Amino acid sequence: MSIYSVFKHLAFKFDPEFIHDHSIKLAAGAPQITKFFAPLSKKPQYHLNQHGLNWSFPVGLAAGFDKNAISIKFFENLGFGAVEIGTVTKEPQQGNPKPRVFRHAAQKSLRNAMGFPNLGSELILKNVKKQKPNMQTCLGVNIGKNKETSPEKTPQEYSYLYKEFAPLADYLVVNISSPNTPGLRDFQKKELLTPIMTALAEVQKEIYKPIFIKIAPDLSYDELRMICELSKEFSFSGVIATNTTLQHDLGKGGVSGELIKPFAQKIRNQACSILAEDPKQMIIGVGGIDSYAEIKDFWKQGGSFVQVYTGLIYQGPALLKNIALAIDEDMKKYQVSNVEELIQAIKQKS
Ligand SMILES: Cc1cc2nc3c(=O)[nH]c(=O)nc-3n(C[C@H](O)[C@H](O)[C@H](O)COP(=O)(O)O)c2cc1C
Repeated sequence: MSIYSVFKHLAFKFDPEFIHDHSIKLAAGAPQITKFFAPLSKKPQYHLNQHGLNWSFPVGLAAGFDKNAISIKFFENLGFGAVEIGTVTKEPQQGNPKPRVFRHAAQKSLRNAMGFPNLGSELILKNVKKQKPNMQTCLGVNIGKNKETSPEKTPQEYSYLYKEFAPLADYLVVNISSPNTPGLRDFQKKELLTPIMTALAEVQKEIYKPIFIKIAPDLSYDELRMICELSKEFSFSGVIATNTTLQHDLGKGGVSGELIKPFAQKIRNQACSILAEDPKQMIIGVGGIDSYAEIKDFWKQGGSFVQVYTGLIYQGPALLKNIALAIDEDMKKYQVSNVEELIQAIKQKS
């Protein structure tokens, strides 16, 4: 039995958010603790360099896990190729009333209605600055609006957050797809998204960092197409697909993990085909990814980087090691010597 299985057995007896907060604080104080979890040993052949982003492993940590950027080193030590912090809002906020995170263990899924609880941009920026000199990992910063911010003031808030974090981040993510901030998903409509993108394109001229739009798995094809077209028009870097889904009847909040798979996969595949004709656009895949099989499927469609959240809760650090083992095997099978060649070989054979 692995150390993580013992930890999980105990942890699952407690409220998910309580355990998460305590574990992540412990991880922040002792990032070397990862050695007890048999972390992934990184190899140069796992490096993936796409569109100027350099990940040491094709799997990154999804947003929401280290919201306040306190444990970046811990996740880097575990073997993640990138860490996305946030969602960060301009002002600190408490989020929705607790309990707001729920396990659906039989379906290896989670449901959350958190509503961006976070320390706010000023403190989170300090946390990032403190860790930056010690950090080798690719850093994504996921930004969102405060609950009380009006639609008119929202573009300014995103551009403020971009300006604050762009000097330290490798990429930024515009989160307009969390289902737990009232009205946030309305910004996936053209008339509300365009002003945000205009404001961001303006500040991007001062300091350039790639920007991705994080989208919901509940979009129609036309809505998805419109967002992809805007990403091209504004020369953004593409989309992160997807956030949690509302297509369930389990209670409040968005669902992630095994239950999201069909919805997230459909949107990812559609986004891959819409953006295929533009080599400057990229899709970062997230949502129900919990094995190499899903990653390979995403690579066949034209994707490259992926992120995980719920899979890590259910499988622990073994998830990364198992993916690495499967990559090693496939590199032998396809007779290639690194992940970039592997992705090409898989795409060509499909
Ligand atoms: C408890 C919890 C909190 C989350 N918080 C955020 C967040 O703050 N910002 C965000 O963009 N996504 C957030 N997410 C969504 C994840 O980043 C991811 O998109 C989603 O869970 C689907 O991936 P998964 O199936 O691997 O979990 C959260 C997910 C969970 C389970």
